[in-house]
Amino acid sequence: MKNYLITGGAGFIGTNFIRHALTARPDWNIVNLDALTYAGNPANLENLDPGIAGRYHFVRGDICDATLLDSLFSKYIFNGIIHFAAESHVDRSIQGPEDFAQTNVMGTFRLLEACRKFRKDKKMSDEFRFLHISTDEVYGSLGPDGYFAEQTPYDPSSPYSASKASSDHFVKAYFRTYGLPTLVTNCSNNYGPYQFPEKLIPLTILNIIKEKPLPVYGDGKNIRDWLYVLDHCDALITVLEKGTPGETYNIGGGAERENIEIVHLLCDLVDDRLGRSGDKSGRWLIQFVTDRPGHDRRYAIDATKIKTDLGWTSARTLEDALESTVDWYLNNMEWVDSVQSGEYRKWIKQNYQHRGVNS
Ligand code: NAD
Ligand code: TYD
Repeated sequence: MKNYLITGGAGFIGTNFIRHALTARPDWNIVNLDALTYAGNPANLENLDPGIAGRYHFVRGDICDATLLDSLFSKYIFNGIIHFAAESHVDRSIQGPEDFAQTNVMGTFRLLEACRKFRKDKKMSDEFRFLHISTDEVYGSLGPDGYFAEQTPYDPSSPYSASKASSDHFVKAYFRTYGLPTLVTNCSNNYGPYQFPEKLIPLTILNIIKEKPLPVYGDGKNIRDWLYVLDHCDALITVLEKGTPGETYNIGGGAERENIEIVHLLCDLVDDRLGRSGDKSGRWLIQFVTDRPGHDRRYAIDATKIKTDLGWTSARTLEDALESTVDWYLNNMEWVDSVQSGEYRKWIKQNYQHRGVNS
């Protein structure tokens, strides 16, 4: 059996990754280290099939806790770390950047230090890899033309992207300085099941269902390159197993859309499912609101390297995957209700109180 440490596995992408990997890789034993912040929900992984549940182990804890990392590295010989844990929401980073510096920068540094220490003591598998999951936001904003390639200079705009950029630099430095076999992936915006409803797609789906306003920042023409989370999970396994240590791989969905187009698509899909039309259509709920400060205009990934070097491309079309995402939320309203209680409500109140309606 191979042991993998997954950090942040109770969050959106981590949950999807663990579910996918336990099925796709029957020889993996997974240890999920997660602090369970507002974004972490251990219930996401409670109902695993009995056939795979025995290979999943949850540890509640902070990646900044060096003593806890020592104890985990002493207990297991890891074949790899797949590092998702982070503060991940741009709007939260604008309201309170400190947690982003702490978890994203210091937490990544602590993990790297634990690897350096235990590798020196030869308490690691020979095929060990440190896979660091990062974002295309480190590259800053694009104009109407061009794409982010692996060699595009970093130019982060938000405290979130600045903290991820910093962590990427630490990871690369540990490869160059200490020879730690690291891999960095920079991916575009993900969507799919289990995403916390503060991000554009789940927030919009749930607000349409509940007939609440759909806040669209600025003119709604900012562009993101949407990637279905299960395509992303496939790409991560590919990079882990075939990637060259020290390299970076950009991962994109090849699906650039303006935010307003995404909102319109979601309105049409939910309307169709709920039999709404005319003045009951979700489109009437759209409200253009004050723009996010430092709002990047356009992200778009050039995924040539992962395609030519490792043979990965995204499999699902945006339209098909958005449809199954809408169905997932409609079929999992119990999950939604449990997530929307407590902290999430407070956040919505705090975040939208100061944001005026433009039109
Ligand atoms: P998420 O916010 O849904 O989940 C983050 C998880 O990390 C949560 O379970 C949380 O409890 C845990 N966590 C936070 N601080 C921790 C700490 N100090 N110690 C241990 N666990 C902690 O995030 P996500 O959307 O699943 O993103 C996962 C990773 O992918 C992040 O590194 C993010 O930067 C990156 N990423 C995400 C996207 C996206 O569209 N969601 C796009 C590009 C890159
Ligand atoms: P988001 O899902 O927060 O991801 P990111 O900021 O990491 O790209 O936002 C995606 C896009 O949607 C971004 O351009 C901001 C915009 N947006 C809205 O217009 N309204 C919203 O309520 C949210 C959450 C985001």
